[in-house]
Amino acid sequence: MTVVRRLLPDDAEEYRSLRLEALQRHPEAFGSSHAEESTRPLSSFADRIAGGYIAGGFVDGRLDATAGLLVPTQAKSRHKGMLWGVYVRGNRRGSGLADAVMTALLAHAAEHVEQIHLSVAATNGRAIGFYKRLGFEAFGTEPRALKVDGTYVDEILMVKFMGS
Ligand SMILES: CC(C)(COP(=O)(O)OP(=O)(O)OC[C@H]1O[C@@H](n2cnc3c(N)ncnc32)[C@H](O)[C@@H]1OP(=O)(O)O)[C@@H](O)C(=O)NCCC(=O)NCCS
Repeated sequence: MTVVRRLLPDDAEEYRSLRLEALQRHPEAFGSSHAEESTRPLSSFADRIAGGYIAGGFVDGRLDATAGLLVPTQAKSRHKGMLWGVYVRGNRRGSGLADAVMTALLAHAAEHVEQIHLSVAATNGRAIGFYKRLGFEAFGTEPRALKVDGTYVDEILMVKFMGS
């Protein structure tokens, strides 16, 4: 059975485990690194859950997917949400779980922001295709956005205006 819901601080342990798997397996896909996050205490994952919005996709009670939305507090920027931490466990890709967590996130975003921004590695064709299908459009490229083990990664910048 699939359940999609907002993560709660009590989900911190499962969230940490999935997040560290994501950072370890796909270092080029995330701005944060496994080395940095694996040293953080469990409480920092609970704080992150409490301090923002993370949609979680559970299959048979196990957390298998996440998508986060960060809303700036500054008055001039808070109309723009930032999508981050989009991850689906390998064996659940192509199953519709990614769509399910993004549907929940987009419903939440529609209540809080006017547009959603994201950045995605230029080499990540699967994620770019996924975001385009959800209505995100590319508007630029940030050259050398990340440096992963000495290799530069360009990122495509995308935006979705709510209601489009
Ligand atoms: C990105 C991610 C969340 C998407 O979830 P998913 O379940 O794989 O997504 P879907 O299968 O629903 O959609 C992927 C789309 O890319 C297509 N695709 C699959 N492999 C592809 C490839 N190698 N190149 C381009 N497109 C590809 C699929 O056909 C599908 O397109 P369609 O909907 O038009 O058929 C998931 O792949 C993931 O967690 N990847 C690793 C982490 C990551 O890259 N996160 C994003 C960080 S910005």
